[in-house]
Amino acid sequence: MTPPTSALPKPHQTMILAHRAMVRDLDRIARTAAELAERPDAERVRALRAYGLRIAEIIHHHHEGEDDILWPALKERGADEEALELMQREHADLHRGLDEMRESLEALGEDAAGAGALEKAARATHDLLREHAADEERELAGRLAPALDAAVWKQFERGMVKSAARWTLSFMPPWLASVAGEDERGGVPAPPVARLMRGRLRRQQEAAFGALA
Ligand SMILES: [Fe+2]
Ligand SMILES: [Fe+2]
Repeated sequence: MTPPTSALPKPHQTMILAHRAMVRDLDRIARTAAELAERPDAERVRALRAYGLRIAEIIHHHHEGEDDILWPALKERGADEEALELMQREHADLHRGLDEMRESLEALGEDAAGAGALEKAARATHDLLREHAADEERELAGRLAPALDAAVWKQFERGMVKSAARWTLSFMPPWLASVAGEDERGGVPAPPVARLMRGRLRRQQEAAFGALA
């Protein structure tokens, strides 16, 4: 039986929520791009571009933290080589997809020119990330688990906070809370910030995704 998420170290719980929020938003970016290709709307384009670039930055930072902190710490502790190689291979594929999505977002015209290319790039990144997140969660609880303890999670969490862009400190808490179930609230960092910034996040998402938000 899988243990409840609330039994995991807090940074591990946060990681699961981050994966879920990323996959959800990549799907919404792809679907909104498809909508805009049909019905251009300059205001939505601007909001989607701003929101999408934020999500791309968060995903990039998440992988950078794993590549620079988590995998090396696990390697040092003798973690399963095959599992670490799989994680790094999937990150490399995602990196290419993410770059393409970022370029499509930057190139998106106010008349929605390029929305088709954005839909394709966001959908491809979504599919890769959904698969990678599932693989990563399985490996963290499986082959990588013997080398993973509270000290490694702490090291990862500290490194992530230290290297995070300032704007993410008020964005991440409500963003993670927006995908957390009742029994998963323990994985949400800074709950007061999550409550305080919930409305702002909601407005940003509605501006970008409209009815999909
Ligand atoms: Fe992750
Ligand atoms: Fe990852």
